[in-house]
Amino acid sequence: MKHGPPARSVPGVTDEIFASGDDPADGWFGESVAESYDDPGGANAPEAIRPAVELLTELAGGGPVLEFAVGTGRVAAPLAARGVPVSGIELSRAMAARIAGKPGGDRVDVTIGDMTSTRVGTGFSLAYLVFNTINNVTSQDGQVDVFRNAAAQLRPGGLFLVEVGVPDLRRLPPGQDTVPFAVAPGDDGGGYLGFDQYDVVTQLFTSNHVRVAPDGTGRFRRIPFRYVWPAELDLMARIAGLRPKYRWSGWDRAEFTADSTSHVSVWQKA
Ligand SMILES: C[S@@+](CC[C@H](N)C(=O)[O-])C[C@H]1O[C@@H](n2cnc3c(N)ncnc32)[C@H](O)[C@@H]1O
Repeated sequence: MKHGPPARSVPGVTDEIFASGDDPADGWFGESVAESYDDPGGANAPEAIRPAVELLTELAGGGPVLEFAVGTGRVAAPLAARGVPVSGIELSRAMAARIAGKPGGDRVDVTIGDMTSTRVGTGFSLAYLVFNTINNVTSQDGQVDVFRNAAAQLRPGGLFLVEVGVPDLRRLPPGQDTVPFAVAPGDDGGGYLGFDQYDVVTQLFTSNHVRVAPDGTGRFRRIPFRYVWPAELDLMARIAGLRPKYRWSGWDRAEFTADSTSHVSVWQKA
């Protein structure tokens, strides 16, 4: 997988790209990530998932639906539990292995593969790709391929939905390339530091996570992404034969404005 700009080295901290024991075929979401991905709170809280499932159910109009990068079934399983026929494509076996154990998960039909090219069928009324995962595809061509692959599997009039952040470049002071998103020193001498590092020429960025133990030893993990603008997504959709239908700032369908930090966008197949 292509890397973003190298993060600055941190003295005394291990640069850990893949945790030992993870299967490289699982990409950035190996067993060491999958084992805690469903921990309670944050994006796993019922109040975070419910509005997504409600909107997806309505847009599906009875389905069937296809989730790109279905992960552990955080969204797909509750959607299936509501009676919507759900298929999913997922790169990581470690992530996908968690789906069947959830309510509704045994009804999710999962294919292991790359969402830029893997086909599971045609005639879907809705395909969707959430939680910033379009950014995991680290080339513009690859992101266009995601749109093409979604469009090819939709029925005429079918919808493709993407949930993704607006690139955070307004927080980047001139001459700097790094935006911290968490600085959390612990009382025990350890702590956590998270920061994104941008290359505004290539649109590649890395998310960097430094965890320091009380004894001063640390683990440094960086994950490469490609940020993408809303207007650029509209052009990708057009290339794939899709037309803009909705753009909201979130699952609650609030208006998308200049101050929105993320968006839920929907395109329709002609
Ligand atoms: C942030 S998780 C999102 C999982 C799930 N959609 C959710 O909302 O919880 C990103 C997922 O995308 C998967 N992924 C990344 N690149 C992929 C690709 N090219 N094809 C299929 N899955 C991919 C990862 O393995 C991981 O499970």
